[in-house]
Amino acid sequence: MRHRFHSICPYFAMFPETFVRKHLAATRFAGVVFDPFCGRGTTVFESLLCEREAAGCDVHPVAVCVAGAKSDPPTRFEVIERLSALETQSRSAHFGEQNQDLAEFFRLCFHPMTYIQVRFLRDNLRWLDDRTDRFIAALSLGALHGESHRSPNYFSNRMPRTISTKPAYSIKWWKKNGYTAPPRDVFAILRHLNDYRFKTSVPRGRGQVALADARSAAGAFPHLTKRVTDIITSPPYLDTTNYVEDQWLRLWFLGGKAAVCRPRGDGRHYSFDSYRTFLAECWAGVAPLLADKARIVVRIGGRKLTREQRLDVLHHSLEEGSGRHVKLTDSGISSLVKQTQANAFRGSKPTPTLEHDFCFLLE
Ligand SMILES: C[S@@+](CC[C@H](N)C(=O)[O-])C[C@H]1O[C@@H](n2cnc3c(N)ncnc32)[C@H](O)[C@@H]1O
Repeated sequence: MRHRFHSICPYFAMFPETFVRKHLAATRFAGVVFDPFCGRGTTVFESLLCEREAAGCDVHPVAVCVAGAKSDPPTRFEVIERLSALETQSRSAHFGEQNQDLAEFFRLCFHPMTYIQVRFLRDNLRWLDDRTDRFIAALSLGALHGESHRSPNYFSNRMPRTISTKPAYSIKWWKKNGYTAPPRDVFAILRHLNDYRFKTSVPRGRGQVALADARSAAGAFPHLTKRVTDIITSPPYLDTTNYVEDQWLRLWFLGGKAAVCRPRGDGRHYSFDSYRTFLAECWAGVAPLLADKARIVVRIGGRKLTREQRLDVLHHSLEEGSGRHVKLTDSGISSLVKQTQANAFRGSKPTPTLEHDFCFLLE
């Protein structure tokens, strides 16, 4: 059975756990597995399931919350106890005014009773510091919005579950179609989801996931210096989503401002040269962690690059960033990327694109 932690919350551009398992099976090493762009934590968690030591980092709070929850979970009972305490406190909660610009969005998105519970959790979960709160936050992120007419386990009015649609668009769509927010008991849903997720047993080992930029990964994991024998990763692609605008509601839940922002410096790059520089800086940030002859497996895509350009940008940025000789050991398979839910919702034309898997050895 697929482990039930894998699908706690959808995330962009996730690779399947079979990809990680296949490359772990092929490795000759038994050191630490590391993912500097860990996303929802597929590499870290799958490595733990395969009894490997594992760690990862990401700059996106949603990724770090979800990957951290899977990789260092509390017990099912700790979650039950904390939910009871939070539920009791939430009954006497008072809130200041919500950002007026978004008051209409929140009124239409959540039933008044549900909103009080969501808002209470948002204001009180210490997800960065406490593993039980992080697990509850991750469960909440997966339930925050979705196709609530199809499942009783979503908190919101109808929305896609992969992306948070923009406020103005959502309001117009809900009004036009007469959709209203269902009354959902957040704590009852979280108890149910907690029971469901813990049906599969938790790995023995624990992994560390940090909110950190790959460019400074070595500083975030000093205890892993020269211990990483395998990297299995997928960097942000050239000219692809910035992972932030489309996740604005989940970011709000994790304590961010209620705003749809277009941040800078998030790793999105439009020119080939700056993308290559970015990747070289990331490999340089990871290099101190790498053991001799470390193996680097990378899945890479992006609409604007040919297969040869992807290989070239990876090979050269790896040599430049690591300062070592890099040997291509497997020019791997190419797979067709299917139409994503996000694109389908935006009405974008299907643009089939390929991803490529490359494997390198540092010498
Ligand atoms: C293609 S996704 C990885 C998805 C992951 N393999 C999974 O299965 O969920 C790329 C990730 O890189 C992260 N990212 C972008 N710039 C970064 C940086 N400078 N340092 C660390 N992570 C970064 C993004 O937030 C995103 O989660």
